[in-house]
Amino acid sequence: MAEQKHFPFEMKELEDEEKAAFFKAYRTSTVDHRFDFVSVGPKKYKQLRRYCEEAANIYNMPVRNSDVFVVTYQRAGTTWTQELVWLLANDLDYATAKAKVLTERFPYTELFTFFDKKWEEDFLKNSEDKQMALKLIENIATPITGKLALMPSPRFVKTHLPLSLLPPSLLDTSKVVYVARDPRDVAVSSYHLARLFKIMDFPGTFKDYWNLFVKDLVNLSPFFPHIKEAWDVRHHPNMLFLFYEELIKDLPAAVLRVADFLGKELTEEQLARLCDHLSFENFRKNESVNYQSLREFGLLTPDENFIRKGKAGGWRDYFDEEMTQQAEQWIADNLRDTDLRFPHMDN
Ligand code: A3P
Repeated sequence: MAEQKHFPFEMKELEDEEKAAFFKAYRTSTVDHRFDFVSVGPKKYKQLRRYCEEAANIYNMPVRNSDVFVVTYQRAGTTWTQELVWLLANDLDYATAKAKVLTERFPYTELFTFFDKKWEEDFLKNSEDKQMALKLIENIATPITGKLALMPSPRFVKTHLPLSLLPPSLLDTSKVVYVARDPRDVAVSSYHLARLFKIMDFPGTFKDYWNLFVKDLVNLSPFFPHIKEAWDVRHHPNMLFLFYEELIKDLPAAVLRVADFLGKELTEEQLARLCDHLSFENFRKNESVNYQSLREFGLLTPDENFIRKGKAGGWRDYFDEEMTQQAEQWIADNLRDTDLRFPHMDN
């Protein structure tokens, strides 16, 4: 009989009214059964249904002293930070960074949850090159822990899971870089992501998306508990807590903070080259990090990009007066029991 692994959280169906709000927003989507959630544990983290297959495996996976995890709520600057961490930890090996896509250098724990068996069947049926299709399925639609166990050290792991759903020994064993970002910019960026990936096909306006976001009805929500879990352990020696806004404001200073955390030193020349490599314009064009290769497989819509605007405060172009006030209240309510503050906010 297969070994039963310990997983301390319940995984539940959404409440009826949550399902109703969710299906209302997605009613005109071309994606039907695929994009639905379960609610995990007391904080009710929303995860795509396939997460249930791997929840216990992820929670129990052996972690190593040499691992570096980049942990974020989505759209907080994960990709940017991953490339930075990888290059620093690998002695600025730009050649390998160019030759090997970031998704292979730095696997993502829940990527497979976006793709189910029905997607696999359709994708295989519609692909002319079956070998390539099978390779892509192996890369993106297969649970992660088996692959991670076989990866040589040092491993680099991207996850959007909150710390409580990761191995309890993680922080005492491995290094963790957590990146946070103003939730209003995260919401705008997540909305565009939900339109970029055909598998998500969010059909509504930004306001429709925001209404789901603020009700904790999008993938990974609720937003604040995710950040607070990391904020509460930000002084742990194995934790580096960064803000996206900090990278935007002074990239060289942020790079030096990460270098220091990883025990690396940089000359001025090396720092300048790294900042140039990470600049928005260069990053956007960099095919090793910009996910453009997924276009060839028909997974992306034409008018959206993964590396999109790269600004702090862009939310102002999307929020009307009512949403602005609702967001202010929501942020104030959620910051009441914590000393967490976003760098550029007045509250
Ligand atoms: P926007 O959609 O607001 O532009 P993640 O990697 O967590 O999905 O985060 C994606 C966000 O980070 C996107 O935000 C993207 O444009 C931004 N980003 C990625 N690389 C960047 C860079 N080099 N400089 C500034 N922002 C960057």
